[in-house]
Amino acid sequence: MNPQDHQLIYQGKAKSVYETDDPEVVIVKFRDDITAGDGEKKDTLTDKGHFNSVISAKFFEVLEEAGIKTQYIELLELGVMLSHRLDMIPLEVITRNIAAGSLLRKFPFQERQEFDPPIIQMDYKSDEFHDPMVNDDIAVALGFVTREELDEIRKITLKINQVLKDFLLKKGITFPDFKIEFGRNHKGEIILGDEISPDSCRFWDSETCEVLDKDLFRKGETGVMDAYQEVASRILDIEDKKKWNIKDITN
Ligand code: TMP
Ligand code: ASP
Repeated sequence: MNPQDHQLIYQGKAKSVYETDDPEVVIVKFRDDITAGDGEKKDTLTDKGHFNSVISAKFFEVLEEAGIKTQYIELLELGVMLSHRLDMIPLEVITRNIAAGSLLRKFPFQERQEFDPPIIQMDYKSDEFHDPMVNDDIAVALGFVTREELDEIRKITLKINQVLKDFLLKKGITFPDFKIEFGRNHKGEIILGDEISPDSCRFWDSETCEVLDKDLFRKGETGVMDAYQEVASRILDIEDKKKWNIKDITN
């Protein structure tokens, strides 16, 4: 399957979206490009797209089993996901269970301070404006969402956090924070879209606190793909590896 044979609809920094014959279905190609600092720091890491697609597919399946609607239909092959078409809302919905990253740079929280209930933060997704944090009034005034939709987004996000936190705990992974994005389907329903991967989440080894995500790249450290591979091999079971034919990338 070659997504490039299809019409390109959208090209982001790490994924490209292509049309299919069905107007409500798209192909999402997970590329090997990796960026930080609103695209200022750039690289290409072999197999990153494969890892992120399969990790996202697994998380989407786990969430669907828990009754959460996602854009995911199926992983056609490594790096290539068939998805429901969504009209994306330009908000980065960030959930924080443990203080890390930009929260520590902006506010006087203690490193690794735990939040219960978790903090939900929303940023406007815009490289031009450097993803500024927004409140409900700003998001509504910009015409991105209604207040009812914000309530719904928060409710779904808290459920996603609980399901993934519990799932990851069993795999020896702590889930400090993550970013998700939502869109509307043709019926106007709010649906989880985008990806859930080491590009968009913090994952720490529960025992050692070893970093298993894109923070390694952000900080200029080595072993980025080893970390992504570690996440994939921990969360995928034997059936997943068979189904997605990935023995070659996860050992
Ligand atoms: P932050 O602490 O840097 O604000 O990141 C919070 C979470 O959001 C973290 O899990 C990584 C993720 N994230 C993205 O997915 N995209 C981004 O552009 C940034 C800055 C963070
Ligand atoms: N979204 C940021 C960028 O594109 C990367 C990040 O820090 O995750 O450059």
